[in-house]
Amino acid sequence: MTDTSTASAGSVPLAPRAWPLLGHALPLLRDPLAFIMSLSGYREMVRVRLGPSSAVMICDPDLTRQVFLNDRTFDKGGPIYDRIREVIGDGLSTCAYPLHRRQRRLCQPSFHPTRLAGYGTVFARAAAAKAGSWRDGDVLDVTQEMMTLTTRATMETMFSGALPAETMQRCLADTAVIVSAFFRRMMTPALLRRLPTRQKRRYDDARTRLAATIAEIIAERRADPTDHADLLSTLVAAVDEESEDGRRQLNDAELADEALTFFLGGMETTAITLAWALHLLATNPDVQHRLKAETDQVLAGGKLDPAHLPSLGLASRVVTETLRLYPPAWMMTRVVREDAELGGVRFKGGSTIVLSPYLLHRRADLYDEPDRFDPDRWLDAQPDRRATYIPFGAGARKCIGDQFALTEAILALTAIVDRWELSPVGDQPFQPKVETSLSSRGLRLRLTERRSADPGDAEHAAAAPLSASVQPSTQPGAAACPVKHGK
Ligand code: HEM
Repeated sequence: MTDTSTASAGSVPLAPRAWPLLGHALPLLRDPLAFIMSLSGYREMVRVRLGPSSAVMICDPDLTRQVFLNDRTFDKGGPIYDRIREVIGDGLSTCAYPLHRRQRRLCQPSFHPTRLAGYGTVFARAAAAKAGSWRDGDVLDVTQEMMTLTTRATMETMFSGALPAETMQRCLADTAVIVSAFFRRMMTPALLRRLPTRQKRRYDDARTRLAATIAEIIAERRADPTDHADLLSTLVAAVDEESEDGRRQLNDAELADEALTFFLGGMETTAITLAWALHLLATNPDVQHRLKAETDQVLAGGKLDPAHLPSLGLASRVVTETLRLYPPAWMMTRVVREDAELGGVRFKGGSTIVLSPYLLHRRADLYDEPDRFDPDRWLDAQPDRRATYIPFGAGARKCIGDQFALTEAILALTAIVDRWELSPVGDQPFQPKVETSLSSRGLRLRLTERRSADPGDAEHAAAAPLSASVQPSTQPGAAACPVKHGK
């Protein structure tokens, strides 16, 4: 598209302090959030350089939305997705536009509300078991604990039934290696990425082992195709009725890519959301007390159940506000497939565009006191928030697991606050570790017991066979989450 009234992307102002050769790589590696926030004065867009290549960062909510909604032109791609693709191939989250709609149709049934009700039962039980495994006075490695919780819950909803503890541990360790390597690999030039360093060997080994574990699970499932009422069964059985090329089902390689996509996409993001939520509750005891009061009223001494979700309004707002302050996907990239115009600027095919929920969520002209944790700002939130609140993205590529994650996070938070009071350790403010996600790695919190464990809340309870509990609900929407994120 050529329009003489538009300017070229080269005319977009360059962010200050670009180094010769390196561009902005150093401030981006040293303190990415400070660097991103230093760009909030640019109202529409700003250019950032990484070595010889440059990308345009979109700072305006309406332009961000235009990019999300036109996924044919502003396609998945760019440095983040190139690295993620190394691990999960062309799964739903990384595939380019021509492959996307078929995959989305095949994956969508796995996240249907009727399935969510069954997953909710697993989440509630896994969370109660995790909360039941701690002792009064414990100092938790919160991120590690939330990772084991969401890994277990994701594995059980995906692959029903108890996986051997050793397999679970191996997946957890390999996932941790992979996700912590993503960001550094993304920022490292291609030549250096190929050097046979110890870190690269660890990363390659973890990647190969995790893929082999998932392939093994899929092979077992193919050999026993009965409906296990879990996510993998739905994927194996999914049929694309609109297929035009005869490929109506996912083959083994595609299944492995999707399973890895859900596994990696689902468990780390939800774990760090929960860790940040617990951090915010520990540092805001008034909100924590109100949440405990809500929990007492809703549970009334009974067991946590997905049917409680519509009554857990404050827990839901806490999760919403946590995702505003600490959106795990703090930055996303897109590649312009063909010459296009955006906000009066002409982009050439091949250009890279950067979107940042973190930047939008903390802009003072969009949110009052943007750095303050205030779950009640969502009490009467207007629909126009949709353009400025994008923790799950938007448009056709919006997170397919948003309701899955919200259901899991709200139930887990409720189960934890019901049993434990959380307080900070030390008086130093805790800072995010910026990786591909906004990581809470290293966060520690102290626990004080509010009430003792119920019989059956023990950790081993979650390892019971799950196929009985992961049954599709007969009541559509039974687990409908009180938080709805519009498109
Ligand atoms: C709090 C938790 C989560 C957050 C913050 C989150 C965030 C996101 C974001 C921002 C995107 C869009 C990325 C882009 O447009 O570039 C996305 C896509 C995706 N997410 Fe999530 N996610 C979460 C949980 C999950 C879960 C639990 C699953 C699966 C079990 C999942 C699977 C996916 C998939 C498959 C996509 C790609 C969708 C597509 O392209 O059609 N996510 N997620």
